[in-house]
Amino acid sequence: MTMLTVNNVTTVCHPLCEHNLGIIRDKDINSDCFKNSMRRLSTILILEATKDLPLKKYTVQTPLTSCKVNKINDEYKIIFAPILRAGLAISDVASEIIPDASIQHIGMYRDEATLEPVWYYDKTPVSYQNPENIKVFILDPMLATGNSAHAAVSLFLKKGINIKNIVFVCILSSPKGINLLTKDFPDLRIITAKTDDRLNEKGYIVPGLGDAGDRLFNTFEK
Ligand code: URA
Repeated sequence: MTMLTVNNVTTVCHPLCEHNLGIIRDKDINSDCFKNSMRRLSTILILEATKDLPLKKYTVQTPLTSCKVNKINDEYKIIFAPILRAGLAISDVASEIIPDASIQHIGMYRDEATLEPVWYYDKTPVSYQNPENIKVFILDPMLATGNSAHAAVSLFLKKGINIKNIVFVCILSSPKGINLLTKDFPDLRIITAKTDDRLNEKGYIVPGLGDAGDRLFNTFEK
């Protein structure tokens, strides 16, 4: 896969990313196509986001003999933290790829007037044991203003997780969101499929794909 990494922001360049972005941007595709392309993009991004997971040598018995194999080091805990609702599109895929990971949901909605995040749910524990052995992947398809992403990263930092062990995964990003995160958290890894041009006055990414949650869960007002 071709990657373009600048200031810890990795843009995954792959024809299948382009192809599936082309599908999800189209307002006329049906819900099934939208969800499937979101899943395909999420798979590609999660593979890139998890490429540095620590491995450890284990011995297993094959049907023929014993041999040494590499597996994810079980001294590490892996956390996928989807920002509700749209982050579920990525965490569903992520938990299929790494079934033993802990899924710790974070609920925030955006105040329409201020564009600031309002917390309504936090399934992270009060504190983590051995925070140095925890890898956190914060998942939200849309990095728009960056305010919710900023709040989510701050939550894990407050609980003792090292910024170098946090990765933010999004399908689309905006220059404003990227700038906010890289300014305050220069060591945060960000994985995205594309950075679009700008935000509109309501904080939507342009050209973007509209409201990812509404498109995933069919919650448009008719
Ligand atoms: N959230 C969305 O779902 N879409 C945007 O464009 C911005 C934030």
